[in-house]
Amino acid sequence: MTPNESLTGSEKEGFYKAIFSRRDVRSHFVSREIPNDVLVRILNAAHHAPSVGFSQPWNFILIKDSAVRQRVRESFVRERERSISMLDGNERRQKQYVSLKLEGIIESAINICVTYDPTRFGPFVLGRTSIEETGVYSVACAIQNLWLAARAEGVGVGWVSILANEDLEKILAIPPHVKPVAYLCLGYVSEFAEKPDLERTGWLPRMDLADVVCYEQWGVYRLESWSALSTAMGKMSEGKREDNM
Ligand SMILES: Cc1cc2nc3c(=O)[nH]c(=O)nc-3n(C[C@H](O)[C@H](O)[C@H](O)COP(=O)(O)O)c2cc1C
Repeated sequence: MTPNESLTGSEKEGFYKAIFSRRDVRSHFVSREIPNDVLVRILNAAHHAPSVGFSQPWNFILIKDSAVRQRVRESFVRERERSISMLDGNERRQKQYVSLKLEGIIESAINICVTYDPTRFGPFVLGRTSIEETGVYSVACAIQNLWLAARAEGVGVGWVSILANEDLEKILAIPPHVKPVAYLCLGYVSEFAEKPDLERTGWLPRMDLADVVCYEQWGVYRLESWSALSTAMGKMSEGKREDNM
């Protein structure tokens, strides 16, 4: 591919299809192993994410052992209880929260803990000298690559963050200088829902694109010199997402 060459029509279609049909999955896992070649492709996609200073500060801890998963699930149960109590005084929201399925730790085929190692190729990491968080941002890029590659392979991913990092560190023997960034549950699924569960159940709506794009400065949502783009975005919001691909 030459530097200016875009993807072909069908390649672009596949690319956007992966983006728009990716879902956070926790309730539709089916019991089917992920073949090693598929898992390797997914992990390799994650490993080819951009990273600050090319530091590649990620590790992927692959977990199948049911006793380990059980301990992680116990951490989830404790943290979920804690988060439910944060909604004390808002009975409607609390009830809604309790009804949500927020993890698939046991039912999924495999769990993956993605970690951040700030010492990788350090201490001087090109590009991380002013904004420390760029290290963790790099790991987030790897996670998104993993999520999209998994979708392309027909594998669902659910991110569980209702966990205590201290529990993960203990259970997975993560050394003190390494930080868990994500705990992911992967597996084949009976379906990829059309909309996020939190949208479908009325927890929150998807915002319009035009409501998150500012012009030239924070907070400026309308500017004459950008009106053609605003109009195009308005049309996008009317039709929503993939209809406008
Ligand atoms: C950093 C992060 C943490 C998340 N933690 C959880 C979680 O603990 N439990 C859960 O059910 N979903 C979790 N999610 C999934 C989001 O709820 C989900 O991405 C969002 O509702 C949009 O749905 P979609 O991913 O299907 O588009 C997390 C997502 C991210 C990016």
